[in-house]
Amino acid sequence: MTLKGKKFLLGVTGGIAAYKAAQLARLLVKEGADVRVAMTEAATRFVTPVTLQALTGQAVWTDLWDPRVRDNMGHIELSRDRELIVVAPATADFLAKLAGGLADDLLSTLCAARRSPLLVAPAMNVEMWENAATQRNVHTLRGDGVHFAGPAAGDQACGEVGMGRMLEPEEILAEIEALFQPKPLAGKRVLVTAGPTEEPIDPVRVITNASSGKMGYAVARAAREAGARVTLVSGPTALDAPAGVQRIAVRTAEQMFEAVKKLAPDSDLFFGVAAVSDYRVKNRAAQKIKKGAGGGMTLELIENPDILAWVAALKDAPFCVGFAAESEKLAENAQAKRAKKDVPLLVANLAQRALGADDSEVTLFDDDGRHPLGPAPKLELAREIVAHVARMLAGEKRTRAKA
Ligand code: CTP
Repeated sequence: MTLKGKKFLLGVTGGIAAYKAAQLARLLVKEGADVRVAMTEAATRFVTPVTLQALTGQAVWTDLWDPRVRDNMGHIELSRDRELIVVAPATADFLAKLAGGLADDLLSTLCAARRSPLLVAPAMNVEMWENAATQRNVHTLRGDGVHFAGPAAGDQACGEVGMGRMLEPEEILAEIEALFQPKPLAGKRVLVTAGPTEEPIDPVRVITNASSGKMGYAVARAAREAGARVTLVSGPTALDAPAGVQRIAVRTAEQMFEAVKKLAPDSDLFFGVAAVSDYRVKNRAAQKIKKGAGGGMTLELIENPDILAWVAALKDAPFCVGFAAESEKLAENAQAKRAKKDVPLLVANLAQRALGADDSEVTLFDDDGRHPLGPAPKLELAREIVAHVARMLAGEKRTRAKA
């Protein structure tokens, strides 16, 4: 539990999403966090302080002049011992106040006088989010080091559809947890491949591997959380790039190889998570192939380059982590693959167990043997894999593929 005992100030501002702040408070308390709540006057129109008081077991603060605070120093005292201020929802008005450094009510004053980091979860109508002034404020706040959780796109309370919906409380919780991850990869350059590749047969047909890309994206996110500069070379997936990660979109194995060839020599770590198609079609048809009169069809395939093996064989290779989805004899196949590709760490799982799912169960194979992880959400597994790699790097155990 990363958040156990952590001290938060949860700021609630006046938007319809304020009711979700109650759920966020509940989730934080469930994680063992100490949650102090400050609400703007407008927020109390949407959700009552009593609700948040009951959920957090603490007095809720709404007034800059509250006589309960010693010497009327509430603007300093209430946020001084906090490790993070989370404002959820953060309205367009509140973002404007933050960007301008205004302090005309309790919450804006606590933010202005803070020593802790600040995370905001914006919630507003799409037009307000896209308004030039709001975007200018967001840009200013990012530059000031304020962390953003969302917003997301989707249906809005006002009936419109678009960007501006507050993240769900569970998603905000995940963003908060991310801020508290240890930073063992600070300063490292990490390259990750993810997703499937598509090898065209003709303009409308492809050969591909079943892969959602979820594990690779989770690894990229976990490496970013651990402080690394991360580039993600991704085959076609339906996923958004994790925040702070540079994504290069590719389609075929050859395109993935080209991107990796450029980046790998300057990387400290390489995670080959992509389900690269082992073969491509030798003579790709320029036009859609028409069905013959009965009978079958034969495709001639040629082998694709092995991207991971190429990176691992570089003279000054980054620390390489291979991934293998096997359908049987997990340990035997994984060990053989680790030896063949000559990588210090191989993460293996049974394909039937994890394909497309949010959870998985993996085994790490390294010089010290095998380490089972999970079952757990892929992001949690990715964090543990990254932590394992960081320990291997710190111990300088086979830090290069070529020991
Ligand atoms: N890999 C790669 N390039 C390829 C094939 C695989 O970089 N052309 C990487 C994957 O990203 C993964 C690892 O190699 O990290 C193992 O992939 P897998 O498909 O399980 O291995 P293969 O070598 O293709 O072995 P198999 O015979 O089981 O298909």
